[in-house]
Amino acid sequence: MTQESSQPPATILADTVIRNIGQLVTLAQQPIAGATGPLQIINHAALAIHQGTITWIGSDDESEPFFQPDTPGSIPDITLIDAEGAVITPGFVDSHTHLVFAGERAEEFHLRRSGVSYGELLAQGRGILTTMKATREADADTLMELASARLDTMRNHGTTTVEIKTGYGLNMATEESCLRVINQLSQQEATVHRHTHNELRIVPTFLGAHSVPPEYKEQRAKYVEMVIAEMLPAFVGLARFCDVFCEREAFTLEESRNILTRAKELGYQLKIHADQLSPSGGSRLAAELGATSADHLDYADDADLDALREAGVVATLLPGCSHTLRTAYPSARRLIDRGLHVALATDFNPGTSYCENMQMMLELVMSSMGMTLEEALMAATINGARALALQDQIGSIEVGKQCELTFWSIRDYHEIGYHFGVNLVRSILVVR
Ligand code: NIG
Ligand code: FE
Repeated sequence: MTQESSQPPATILADTVIRNIGQLVTLAQQPIAGATGPLQIINHAALAIHQGTITWIGSDDESEPFFQPDTPGSIPDITLIDAEGAVITPGFVDSHTHLVFAGERAEEFHLRRSGVSYGELLAQGRGILTTMKATREADADTLMELASARLDTMRNHGTTTVEIKTGYGLNMATEESCLRVINQLSQQEATVHRHTHNELRIVPTFLGAHSVPPEYKEQRAKYVEMVIAEMLPAFVGLARFCDVFCEREAFTLEESRNILTRAKELGYQLKIHADQLSPSGGSRLAAELGATSADHLDYADDADLDALREAGVVATLLPGCSHTLRTAYPSARRLIDRGLHVALATDFNPGTSYCENMQMMLELVMSSMGMTLEEALMAATINGARALALQDQIGSIEVGKQCELTFWSIRDYHEIGYHFGVNLVRSILVVR
């Protein structure tokens, strides 16, 4: 990707210009003229966009002669947006969510507070299976309505891209229906939210191997076979990723390998819930199969981390789970120091992380996992994009990338994490 010089050439294409940006936190991966620090920040900046692609980034002063709609010779029909001094960052990329489900598990949450473990509840047929029952009983309209409301909350908290997994159907019909809901949500974003410039990008993931459903409890091999032979081929085109919960309570290493190997053959990209509750071998499997990301990693050892790094697998941390389950937070510092690309996501789900808000994840990772603000912002944007193999399109503000931005109601990005527990985001701006 080539960076333009800070002086806008006369030929620059722009149908939209954002002016009066107080602090443009670009997170550019290539140096930008006039930008400083590890986040490549430009103060008092402007941004030009043409057909959804960023075409120029620079100082607001330098944009003057080119981007004023009234200046003779300027580009006609330009939409001029006054940022009113806002801090602007790339939109958050929430690369791990379980957003489509019905019901809730408040009772189980409070049982866990009184000492019952997540694993015990799952073994009793509760946990994921409680949500599975409610999801199977709900019709598609209800699932759509519930998911839409959650997406609105994410939008209001600064997220512009959301990965959404299935995994509460656990049979052919409901897994398919959930995938159709995810694809319909994406359609709805385009039709309802494109003209108001706050359309979310949605990435669908098939997670049929989230838990063995009760009807297959005594014949789990048959369920795995159904995922491999029936679901995976049927859902090609509906899901971009295939994920597996590789865990002693869920799917064994061998089962996970069989499912993901078939998924890869069919053209899915891969993700793994790896080493969350025990050392499951999931990280090694992610490296072996060239997964895009391995997520959780609470129990990954140093050799696991080296394998992930060598294979170019993104390590995704989900601090909402440690917060909710009250388990030790894995060290983000250790992963970063080992040279991994670390992404940060909500893991939004009704059991272990009932939180749509990426700002909360930044707060947790800074307070309890040893990340600096700069590292946390990278993890929530460009590395989230890497965790979805979208780093060439989104995750930073650079010439050639898509315009998916978050406008903050703060004057300096250092307020993020410091002023906590409230929503610091004013709005998102997505131009297509
Ligand atoms: O990422 N680990 C598996 N899935 C979720 C939990 C889902 C649930 O409890 O409903 C997770 O932690
Ligand atoms: Fe998850």
